[in-house]
Amino acid sequence: MRRAAALLLASALGCQEPLDAPTDAVSAPDVLADTALAPVTDPLSMPTEPTLSPSAFKPAEQCASCHADHVAEWRGSHHAYAMIDPVFRALVAVRQTHEGGRSDRFCLQCHSAVATRGGEIEPGFRFEDLSPIALEGVTCEACHRVTSVDRPNNSGHRIDVGAPIGGPHATPVANDFHASRHDPLFEQSEFCAGCHDVVEVIGLPLERPYEEWLESPAGADGRTCQDCHMPASLGRLVTGGPERTRHSHRFVGVDVPATATGAAAETLDAAVQALLEGAADLDVEAHPAAARAGERLDVVVTVTSRVEGHSLPTGSAFLRELWVHAVVLDAEGRVIHETGALDEQGDLKGPFSELDPYGDPSLMQFGARLLDATGTPTIFPWRAVEVASTAIPAGHQRTQTLHVPVPLDAAGPLTVEATLRFRATPPHVLRALGMPPGVTIRDLVSRSVSVPVSDVEP
Ligand code: HEC
Ligand code: HEC
Ligand code: HEC
Ligand code: HEC
Ligand code: HEC
Repeated sequence: MRRAAALLLASALGCQEPLDAPTDAVSAPDVLADTALAPVTDPLSMPTEPTLSPSAFKPAEQCASCHADHVAEWRGSHHAYAMIDPVFRALVAVRQTHEGGRSDRFCLQCHSAVATRGGEIEPGFRFEDLSPIALEGVTCEACHRVTSVDRPNNSGHRIDVGAPIGGPHATPVANDFHASRHDPLFEQSEFCAGCHDVVEVIGLPLERPYEEWLESPAGADGRTCQDCHMPASLGRLVTGGPERTRHSHRFVGVDVPATATGAAAETLDAAVQALLEGAADLDVEAHPAAARAGERLDVVVTVTSRVEGHSLPTGSAFLRELWVHAVVLDAEGRVIHETGALDEQGDLKGPFSELDPYGDPSLMQFGARLLDATGTPTIFPWRAVEVASTAIPAGHQRTQTLHVPVPLDAAGPLTVEATLRFRATPPHVLRALGMPPGVTIRDLVSRSVSVPVSDVEP
């Protein structure tokens, strides 16, 4: 029923462009294509008239004299990157060319709530015209002036720049710069839900880490987003202040913002790698334990998620790629079977490969795929009417059997090598956005099994 309604709405929104927009169409949005369609609005998060004044917000720089460590950590984080991230800007530009700016406020409501509520995001806006505080994205006061979360998605939090700075400490020492307010909301997952659960304009749930968390082992025993993504340590909140629990503001996720450089980038890179390496287990078994030349070997591959807070992957899962690369070699190094290899453009041999879309029928891939009204995979959420998910729910596992015909002349023993691999931004996404290539693949876990080969029985 919901799907039918979504389909109707999608066609009402007029999806007439070719399925894969030519990448050279990605340019500054000077033409408003569908001016007949009214801009998307919402009284709380996408108001037509400004409900706050961006100039009332203080930039992170002003917090640095007292909270130097918090500011330094935040600067290297994705939150500081939310408005300068080139992938974000490129996707907004494509949506502007497709929809003529009607959804600009929709895209900006979380990445810069201050700009969106402050009236800076008019349909067809340009990043270069925005104020410095708007470009700070998810800045200190975009979070610390939050007073409540009215809905756990789509920028559903209230921001009151007149309210004292909210935080987790019950007895903050007074200071001349800001009034402080203890608010337990800052220790709850609901706080993050306001921005991290994304529902598309037609009502399609695109990103739902909070919804997943509610059903997860961590959700059941009260471990919050903060417990994993803002780990606590003992320290001082301000120079000369009392010793207290402080929380990392690096917000480690699945990749390193391009703004991080030098030693900071290396530290962050190691933290991302550690988070991902802890995220899954991989198991490989061969049946029968000894292969027979000329017969079939079954290789059973099992991926178990160790993420207890949400699915693996989560968030922008439709942009990410998580897959198993498995190769079976004979003793002379001859490849007998392979899945999860890349084509010459670096893409998996699935629907987004331009060179070999049917080249890997046994590909084991986990994530989310957006499907448009014709059932065709797309990376553009505004064209999607369905999200097909193969992400692994918290605490679950996925098993697949690779059927490997063993050649008569295979030299034993065979070696099965399997690796679980991840990348935040695959080449086909960069191509579709008209961005230069450059992709980091991270290996999460590898397994290798040796399988003896016995001759065919006479
Ligand atoms: C409800 C809040 C919200 C809305 C609305 C929203 N985003 Fe985001 N966006 C996020 C969050 C949170 C993340 C980080 C999620 C993750 O990394 O898994 C994100 C991440 C992204 C990324 C990935 C960045 C990267 O470097 O990989 C892109 C691209 C992006 N958003 C584009 C958009 C576009 C385009 C729109 C409008 C269609 C939009 N967003 C609307 C909250 C939002
Ligand atoms: C003049 C110094 C100073 C400046 C500038 C400053 N703060 Fe503070 N802030 C403090 C002090 C002092 C405390 C209390 C520390 C303690 O109790 O250990 C504090 C506490 C906090 C807390 C914790 C509140 C709680 O109850 O948990 C937050 C959050 C905070 N500041 C955010 C900010 C932000 C955001 C900025 C910039 C907009 C900022 N501060 C600028 C001095 C400052
Ligand atoms: C028990 C620890 C744990 C909890 C609780 C947890 N996470 Fe995560 N999170 C992880 C791990 C591990 C990863 C990396 C693997 C993955 O992507 O699932 C991750 C990844 C992410 C990513 C990056 C996804 C991507 O591919 O872009 C986002 C965004 C995120 N978490 C948000 C949240 C939010 C929001 C909550 C609370 C609703 C939360 N997490 C709760 C452990 C946790
Ligand atoms: C994405 C939202 C977000 C942003 C952006 C953010 N904070 Fe926080 N901050 C939090 C949360 C949530 C906590 C409490 C974490 C907890 O108790 O588990 C916190 C806690 C604090 C505290 C109290 C001490 C501590 O570490 O618990 C200070 C001080 C603080 N933040 C300062 C800042 C400053 C300065 C900035 C900007 C440079 C900033 N924050 C940006 C969400 C944010
Ligand atoms: C005001 C909106 C907002 C709030 C509140 C918020 N986030 Fe985010 N978060 C974002 C956006 C937008 C991005 C993606 C920025 C980008 O890279 O384009 C992001 C990115 C992240 C990432 C990095 C994901 C990656 O791709 O590696 C993590 C981790 C994260 N947030 C955790 C949290 C946690 C934990 C909380 C709650 C304490 C929280 N966020 C609250 C908007 C928000």
